[in-house]
Amino acid sequence: MDKYQIPKDFLWGVATSANQVEGAWNEDGKGMSIADCEKYNPNQDLADYKKVNEMTTAEIETAINDNTSKAWGKRHGVDFYHRYPQDIQQLAALGIKTFRTSIAWSRIFPNGDDDQPNEAGLKFYDKLFTELKKYHIQPIVTLSHYEMPLNLVLNYNAWYDRQVGDMFVKFAKVVIERYHDIVKYWVPINEIDSIIRHPYSSAGLIKDRFPGENFEAVIYQAMHNQFIASAEIIKYVHENYNDLKVGSMITATMVYPYNSDPKNTLKARQVMRQSYDFSDIQVRGKYPRSLLIKLKNKGIPLQISASDKKLLKNNTADFVAFSYYSSVCTAYDTKGLKVTKANRTKGVYNKYLPTSDWGWQIDPTGLRIMLLDLYDRYQKPLFILENGLGAKDELTPDGRVHDQYRIEYLKKHIEQVLISMQEDGVEILGYCIWGTTDMVSASTTQMSKRYGLIYVDLDDLGNGTYKRYLKDSYYWYQDLLNQGNEIDRSFFN
Ligand code: BG6
Repeated sequence: MDKYQIPKDFLWGVATSANQVEGAWNEDGKGMSIADCEKYNPNQDLADYKKVNEMTTAEIETAINDNTSKAWGKRHGVDFYHRYPQDIQQLAALGIKTFRTSIAWSRIFPNGDDDQPNEAGLKFYDKLFTELKKYHIQPIVTLSHYEMPLNLVLNYNAWYDRQVGDMFVKFAKVVIERYHDIVKYWVPINEIDSIIRHPYSSAGLIKDRFPGENFEAVIYQAMHNQFIASAEIIKYVHENYNDLKVGSMITATMVYPYNSDPKNTLKARQVMRQSYDFSDIQVRGKYPRSLLIKLKNKGIPLQISASDKKLLKNNTADFVAFSYYSSVCTAYDTKGLKVTKANRTKGVYNKYLPTSDWGWQIDPTGLRIMLLDLYDRYQKPLFILENGLGAKDELTPDGRVHDQYRIEYLKKHIEQVLISMQEDGVEILGYCIWGTTDMVSASTTQMSKRYGLIYVDLDDLGNGTYKRYLKDSYYWYQDLLNQGNEIDRSFFN
C-alpha cells in the first residue's frame, strides 16, 4: 500500500504542561509550587543529572526569599496565562484535534490543604477550555505534572504523607466534575516512574527533610501513595462518568543491550522491566513480583494494605500513555564504555544513532519497538503523549526558524507510529508533539532547550519580548495534518 490509512478519530495533537508555559506564578490566588523554586543556574553542570534532579531545603528557602530574579524560569514560563488566546489560535491553525496540558494544582488549591478551591484559578481553565472548544480541539489533562503546592512539601513532606494523596484526589474530583463535559482523557500523574529519577520535581521529596531515614524507602512509599491516589481517581471516574478515560503514563526510554552478549541482553531486559513495573501496577492492577522481591531484598518495608491491593486491582487504567524521546544501551559491565544521556538518565552510547544538542540519542525505530512492547504486554490502546526534539534554534532575520533537524526528527518518528498501526496492528489513540510554543525545560530550566513549533523570544535568564515566531516545523506539521486520513508514504521521504 502506498498510503497510510489514519483512523478517523486519531488524535493528532501537541503537548505541554502548566508549569512550563503558564507563568503568572503568583497571580489570581495561585500558591507557590515546587516548580516555582527551580532556577536556571548558568554555572551548573547540566550533564550532572544527579545534581540537576535534586533540591535541598536551603535552596527552597532561597527561592522563597527571592522574588526578583527572572531566572526562576517556571515562574514566568512563556506567559501562556495571558497569551493563551493567540497561542491557541496559532495551534488551531495547524489542524490539531487535541491539546494536552496540565491543570496547576497550586492554582486550584493554592496551599494544597485549603477547604475550598480557588475560583479565580478555575476561571482560567474555564477560559482556556472554552477557547479550545471554539476550534473543536479537545484537551487532554494531566493532573500532576511536576508541580504541587509548596506548602505540602514544607508542612506534610509531600507525597510521602498519605494525606497528600487524599488532597490530590480532592483536587482531581473538583476539576473532573467541572470539566467532564469537555475533557474526556485524564492522566493522574505525568511519567509516574519519574519519582525514582527525580523525586523532588515529581513528588516534592527533599532528602534532607528525612534525616536518619532510608531515602529510597521514602521514595517508594511516596510512589505507593501516588498509585493509590491514581486508583482512587480511576474509581471516581469509572463510577461517575462512563464516557471518560483515565490513562497510566510512563517515561518510555528504550534500552538496548550494548552487544549480543546474553548478559547484556539480560541487563537490558532488567532495566526495561523496571519501567514496566510502573505501568504493570496501573494496568494490571497489582505490584509485579519482581518489584516486591526487589524491595524485600533492599530491606524496604512498603506499606500495602489489603484494601490498597483491592483498590489497585479493581481500578485499572483505560489506556497506556507514554512519552518517548530517545534510547540508550546498557551492559552488565559498563566500565570504559562511552556514556550517553537520555531523559534525566544516562546509559551506554549507541554508535548507530545520532545525538541531539543535549546529548540524547535520536532513535525513531526505538519508538516502534516501544509501541510493540507495550501493546504486546497490555493489549490496551496506547497514547503517545510526548515526542519531540529539544534543540538550539536560531531565529533568522526573515522571522523564521529553519529547523529542518526537528522536521527530520518528527517525520521519522511519526512514520514509525503510522507503520506500527498499519503493519504491526498496534492500537494507538493519538500522538502529541512535545512542544506547543517553546517552553522552559523541565530538567534544566533552560529556555534555550527548545521543543516548540512556535519560537518564543526569551532567553535562559528570562530576558526577551515573549514574541512568537512560527518555525518551519510548524508548517511541516500543518502540511501533514492537511493530508487528512490518507497520507502518501512519499510524504515521509
Ligand atoms: C518529559 C516531561 O519527561 O520530558 C516534560 O514530561 C519535559 O515535562 C520533557 O519537558 C522534556 O524534558 P526536558 O527536560 O528536556 O524539558
